[in-house]
Amino acid sequence: MMSDFSSWVSARQSRFEDVLKRLLPQADATPQRLHAAMRYSVLDGGKRVRPLLAYAAGELAGAPVERVEIAGAAVELIHAYSLVHDDMPCMDDDVLRRGKPTCHVEFDEATALLVGDALQSLAFQLLSEHRLNDDAGKQLQMVKLLAVASGSRGMAGGQAIDLASVGKQLTVPELEQMHIHKTGALIRAAILLGAHCGDLQQAQLDKLDHYGKCIGLAFQVVDDVLDSEADTATLGKTAGKDADNDKPTYVTLLGVQAAKKMAAELRQEAMDSLAGFGAPAQRLRELADFIVMRKY
Ligand code: IPE
Ligand code: IPE
Ligand code: MG
Ligand code: MG
Ligand code: MG
Repeated sequence: MMSDFSSWVSARQSRFEDVLKRLLPQADATPQRLHAAMRYSVLDGGKRVRPLLAYAAGELAGAPVERVEIAGAAVELIHAYSLVHDDMPCMDDDVLRRGKPTCHVEFDEATALLVGDALQSLAFQLLSEHRLNDDAGKQLQMVKLLAVASGSRGMAGGQAIDLASVGKQLTVPELEQMHIHKTGALIRAAILLGAHCGDLQQAQLDKLDHYGKCIGLAFQVVDDVLDSEADTATLGKTAGKDADNDKPTYVTLLGVQAAKKMAAELRQEAMDSLAGFGAPAQRLRELADFIVMRKY
C-alpha cells in the first residue's frame, strides 16, 4: 500500500499537471512552434519539488490551494526555463532532460532561447493577474520575491558563478554561495510564496525561510552526488556531466561520502527549524526526507 506521503505527492503532482496544462498557451495558438516547445519543456516530466514545497507551506499557512498553485506554477515555470537554458550548448550542453531530448535538440537553439524568455514572462504574468493575497501590497512583495530569486542576485547569478567556475578549484564557502544561488534561491522562493498565500507571523516566516535555505542547498548537494553516482536512465539526464564539463561540485571538493554527510546535516538543520510548528509541518518534514533521499 502507498504511504500517506506518496499518495499526497501523486495526488498533488497530477493536480498540478492539470494546472500547468490550463495555464500554458495551447499548442495550436500562434506562434505554434514556440507554444509547442513551451509545453514540451514544462509538461509531462519533473518531480515538481518546488510546487510540492509551495503546497506544503501553503497548507501550513492555511492558504487557499487555488492561490498556492498559481504561485507554485510561477516558480515551476522559472525552473523549467532555467533548465532549458542550462542545457543549451553555451551552458552545460546537454541532450537529455526528463528522459526526453532537450528543448534545443527537439526544436532548435533560437526556440529554446525564446522558450526561456516566454516562460519567465508568463511566470510574472501569473503572479500579477491572479489574486494571491487579499492585501495587494503583500502580493506586490511576492512578485518582488520571485524576481529577486530568479535574477542576478538569485538563480541567474548562481548560473553565472557556475559558468565562471569551470575548471577552477573553488573553496567550500564559494561553492556554497554558488549552490545557494543557482538552486537554493528558487526553492526558498517556492516555500515563501506558498506561505505568503496564507497568513503567518514574521517569526514563523523566518523559520520557514531557514528551512528553505537548508533544503535548497541540500537539494544541489544531492544533485551533485547523483550526477556522479546514478545512471542516465534513472536520472533522465546525462550522468557524469559535471565531471565531463569540469565543474567544481561538492563531490569533487569533498568526496562523495562527505557530500552525503553534508546533505544529511542540512536535512537535520532544516528539520530543527520546523520544530515549533508541530503536526502542520509534517509534509515539509517529509519533503526534506524526499529531497535528501531521492534517487533521481
Ligand atoms: C534539476 O532540478 C536542476 C537543479 C536545480 C539541480 P530538479 O531535480 O528539480 O529537476 P526536475 O524538475 O525534477 O526535472
Ligand atoms: C542547474 O544545475 C541549476 C539550474 C538550472 C538553475 P545543474 O546544471 O547541476 O542541473 P542539472 O544537473 O543539469 O539538472
Ligand atoms: Mg548547470
Ligand atoms: Mg546542467
Ligand atoms: Mg547537476
